[in-house]
Amino acid sequence: MATGEAPDFDRLAGEYDRLRPADAAWQGVLETIWAEGDLAGRRVLDVGCGTGLFAAELARRGAKVWGVDPSAEMLAEARRRAGPSVGLKQGRAEALPFRDGWFERAVLRLVVHLVDRPRALPEVRRVLAPGGRAVVATFRPEHFERIWLARFFPSLTEVDRARFPEPAALAVELERAGFASVRTVEVSQPSSVARDEALERLRGRYISTLWLLPEDEYLAGLARAELELAPETPYSLEWSIVVASV
Ligand SMILES: C[S@@+](CC[C@H](N)C(=O)[O-])C[C@H]1O[C@@H](n2cnc3c(N)ncnc32)[C@H](O)[C@@H]1O
Repeated sequence: MATGEAPDFDRLAGEYDRLRPADAAWQGVLETIWAEGDLAGRRVLDVGCGTGLFAAELARRGAKVWGVDPSAEMLAEARRRAGPSVGLKQGRAEALPFRDGWFERAVLRLVVHLVDRPRALPEVRRVLAPGGRAVVATFRPEHFERIWLARFFPSLTEVDRARFPEPAALAVELERAGFASVRTVEVSQPSSVARDEALERLRGRYISTLWLLPEDEYLAGLARAELELAPETPYSLEWSIVVASV
């Protein structure tokens, strides 16, 4: 994958869960999505399910879960992890391989910045039954200034602010896609990263944005991080959990 191209999740799949582990912060956002989405016992579609970590946990808690993702390698990881507890299909949010009204809930966690929203959001609406609900978990703009790696990569904040929709704009897009009501819950999650872990994540380009920066900026930022990172760096994850009801 050359720097500057769209992220290739096939390439990231093998390392994905090691570089982005299901830590306390991951659990925290799962709890919010679970509660706000009212997911217990529901038929849930995880759109852009990736390696299936989230889908498998929803299934373990008693939801009936399907996952869909375009990346064959991410899906292979998901199959290994989830086994028969999650139904998995290859496909894109813009053309979901499911019939109308098949699900009670849909979850999109860190996916909405990667899809063609004017096509994908009506598709999500289409596969939801009456009374259905979509939960979109994404980062709000403040996140990209506060994330621990922003100071090493001067254009990272701007690149991500351009990629990720603002919550208010996303709410309008969801209404246009046919959702009757939309509300947003903001979650701040204090977290911290140890130096070795941080460097490993940077070297593995654990967030897709690191593939979108110019190569010289990436290498200079990594070198600065190697010199300057403290043993432990506190930071905060700034989530928007957008709940859209049919
Ligand atoms: C940042 S990962 C998030 C994975 C998972 N939802 C999670 O929270 O760990 C983004 C995922 O979206 C998938 N993706 C990219 N484009 C997509 C599209 N058009 N429709 C559905 N999923 C897509 C990628 O293959 C990748 O698995």
